[in-house]
Amino acid sequence: MKQTSYQDICVFDLKFKNSLGLAAGLDKNGDYMDSFASLGFGFIEVGTVTPKPQYGNSKPRLYRDKSSKAIINKMGFNNKGVNHLVNKLKKRRSDIPVGVSIGKNADTPNNLAHADYLYCLDKVFKYAHYIAINISSPNTEGLREFEIKDELANLIKTLKARQLYLTKKDEYKPLLVKISPDNNEKNIENICEILLKFSIDGLICTNTSINHNHSSGSGGLSGQPLMESSTETLRMARKFLGKEFPIIASGGVMSKGDYQNKIDAGADLVQIYTGFIYEGPKLIDDILNH
Ligand SMILES: Cc1cc2nc3c(=O)[nH]c(=O)nc-3n(C[C@H](O)[C@H](O)[C@H](O)COP(=O)(O)O)c2cc1C
Repeated sequence: MKQTSYQDICVFDLKFKNSLGLAAGLDKNGDYMDSFASLGFGFIEVGTVTPKPQYGNSKPRLYRDKSSKAIINKMGFNNKGVNHLVNKLKKRRSDIPVGVSIGKNADTPNNLAHADYLYCLDKVFKYAHYIAINISSPNTEGLREFEIKDELANLIKTLKARQLYLTKKDEYKPLLVKISPDNNEKNIENICEILLKFSIDGLICTNTSINHNHSSGSGGLSGQPLMESSTETLRMARKFLGKEFPIIASGGVMSKGDYQNKIDAGADLVQIYTGFIYEGPKLIDDILNH
């Protein structure tokens, strides 16, 4: 991360007025980008979007565990489809960087998933500041298989080639990969090796965790209890990727102290989701101005 002045943070050649962002999944369709921008975020990530609109998993699919300041969700990429998001991006008035998280439809088998990612990449490329490849949601069957070395390499190779092809018509847009907090050290090392081999531009550490005992049974855990495993994943990734590789931290930031812990563990930028639900917009001010 290059910091040229207090108000000028530069990560993957993009300028940010501050290093705090909104994580993916709260504004899945880009319906509220200007509102979120007005709250003081330095950037926002919208999506995850899929080629076709889809309902997601059946309800109930969202739970709070208030005693531990956690959320358990099994939303399953409910979204209005990539075309809706592109229309919203075209009409956006705010000017902070917007990342777009892309995924695959639930009824697309994994052996055809690359076509879903390519479809979304093509559609959003012109309008996004960066594109996040989501291979770590626990709520789409088989998605995390793309965290396995060979599967990841195949997918990334295809998307990287398309990124370079699209760059002939539009300006370069960074490609990031978002991983889960449930990988062991060897898996993280393998993932990092692939990211470096194919010149991926950045990493998002992490998505939600399947390691929980919530009565809902399945779903991904976020919020305070995610902090430790998510930050440990970040620390290991930083070790394998080296000092310069851009990393966005996501997972368990509920306070300014947590934000600082992410920076200390090697994050260039930090995102919040569950902390924002529990603490409200005040958390943004607490982190940035106190
Ligand atoms: C209800 C809900 C929906 C989410 N949807 C997405 C999503 O569509 N894509 C994604 O990459 N992450 C999604 N996430 C994960 C968040 O972006 C974030 O990585 C995770 O919640 C950890 O951060 P936190 O502890 O600050 O919430 C979702 C999280 C929640 C709670």
